[in-house]
Amino acid sequence: MLSSNFSNRLFGRTRGRSKKNINLKNYYETVDKYKFQNFNEEIEYILDVGTGYGETSIFLAKQFPDKVIISCEKYINGNIVLLKNIENNKIKNILLHNGNVYDVLENINKKYFKLIWIFFPDPWPKNRHAKRRLVTSDFLVKLHKNMKENSEIYIATDSVIYVRFILNSIYKCKDYFLWVNQSKINLKIKDYFDIETKYYKKAINSQRKPSLFILRKL
Ligand SMILES: C[S@@+](CC[C@H](N)C(=O)[O-])C[C@H]1O[C@@H](n2cnc3c(N)ncnc32)[C@H](O)[C@@H]1O
Repeated sequence: MLSSNFSNRLFGRTRGRSKKNINLKNYYETVDKYKFQNFNEEIEYILDVGTGYGETSIFLAKQFPDKVIISCEKYINGNIVLLKNIENNKIKNILLHNGNVYDVLENINKKYFKLIWIFFPDPWPKNRHAKRRLVTSDFLVKLHKNMKENSEIYIATDSVIYVRFILNSIYKCKDYFLWVNQSKINLKIKDYFDIETKYYKKAINSQRKPSLFILRKL
């Protein structure tokens, strides 16, 4: 069972700014249908962290029909869109954790993850909020413990400040991960996948260039 006793606080919004009413009873009933509860040793998992409106989880579910995607997000408006798309596309291999990824990572004693995606984690650009950033070396080492041999982490960001922070985190973890695409001149997402999330589009519309970091477990 999932523990609610996590050490890392989750910042940011749980609901959208719009005054549109959300039927929370219906929402939690649907969440229950797709809720991630326990790992199954027979299954290979993909961890999708901070999924926003769920575009990455739908993409991964279609791309890897033999794996189960664990989609972690506490933003209710985003999860409603994801749940609708799961049902409309009759997708059977997504489980949702309506909350903090740290809940999922607590008390895991096996290497379950074949792939981990972290697309556009909140950059928290102000210095005083830097402690809220998710992609720290401690977080990467925590993920490393639960990753299968040769498995990979994909991290996308369009924030120059976060690029620097991620590079520093990667450097601190150089004994744990190989930075696969470090020799590439550009780190463009579209060189790898045809996927556009809300935050990818926001970046492009604002003429910011998203970068993709690919780390392979050593
Ligand atoms: C900037 S949005 C990006 C959403 C989406 N990946 C995209 O590319 O459009 C970052 C999301 O990560 C979620 N998030 C932040 N920290 C998280 C955590 N510890 N566990 C799960 N989700 C988290 C936030 O709620 C937010 O919706």
